[in-house]
Amino acid sequence: MELQTEVAGIRLEHPLMNAAGTCKMLEDVKELSRSATAAVMVGSITVEPRTGNAGDVYWAGPMFSLNSLGLPNRGAPYYREVLPEMVAVAHGEGKPLFVSVAGFSPEEYTDLTELAFRGGADLVELNLGCPNVWQGSAQKRIACFDPALVAEVLRRVEERVGADMKVSVKISPFSDPFALAEVAQVIGASKVAKAVTTVNTFPNAFSYNGAKPRITPGGGLAGFAGPAMKPIGLGQVRQLRGLLPEHIQIIGVGGITHGQDIQEYRESGAVATQVATAYLERHEQVFSSFLGELLEVASE
Ligand SMILES: Cc1cc2nc3c(=O)[nH]c(=O)nc-3n(C[C@H](O)[C@H](O)[C@H](O)COP(=O)(O)O)c2cc1C
Repeated sequence: MELQTEVAGIRLEHPLMNAAGTCKMLEDVKELSRSATAAVMVGSITVEPRTGNAGDVYWAGPMFSLNSLGLPNRGAPYYREVLPEMVAVAHGEGKPLFVSVAGFSPEEYTDLTELAFRGGADLVELNLGCPNVWQGSAQKRIACFDPALVAEVLRRVEERVGADMKVSVKISPFSDPFALAEVAQVIGASKVAKAVTTVNTFPNAFSYNGAKPRITPGGGLAGFAGPAMKPIGLGQVRQLRGLLPEHIQIIGVGGITHGQDIQEYRESGAVATQVATAYLERHEQVFSSFLGELLEVASE
């Protein structure tokens, strides 16, 4: 059974990798490189170092996870220094290294994309769907819901790094099919965008732990992911496959907990898939375990 696939012209041994938010440090890259992941996704990284939000910032139950980490990472100086070594470690294990970047302006997305490619990244994922950035009580706009901003980020990135570079655009789940068509049109018109990664967390979910919010920052509002996200993720992949030009590939993410889920994402139009919550809960054994299951379902 052949599981080999390809995203943006990059060969992958199989369609499953870690999703952004699960690998920030060199040690994480070493651990993932030794695992059965098809690629190593580092990030999201930001220009400034960020300690992330304080308090309870992650919770996972059997049906869903909530998080409001607030993009903790060491910032551009660290990644400028350490990315070449991260790339060498991943490549040494025969895996491409991808970097997820999160800017707070088109300029920052552009600078971080250039930094990642200069460090040797094989692909850059533009995280346009992070819901968990707060300044006091004000939440920052989620970039993917502003088509003009998406167009501006893509235009500037293309201008800086060139249209040939391998870039995927990561977006939030869209409940308005017209808005999804609008962003698909913007991404489809860009030369530098080779893929769309869908979905990031659903913004501003809330859950109680007794009388208290489960998550501390943002009054308890947090990004929703995990098993319950799968039907939403599959729906987004299916819609986008119909909306995007054929040359733009789709990386499916959301609620993967079994090999069958990967197969369903593939059948819906994704060439590759990612896993966050299940990886955070069960660590690197998810890759070998899900792949074993995928081999079984794919050969049926
Ligand atoms: C704790 C946590 C941190 C995350 N951090 C990021 C991040 O930094 N950048 C990003 O693009 N997505 C981030 N995500 C979203 C995941 O990459 C993924 O899109 C989402 O969780 C759905 O996948 P899942 O159902 O397998 O968790 C994070 C998710 C979790 C649970």
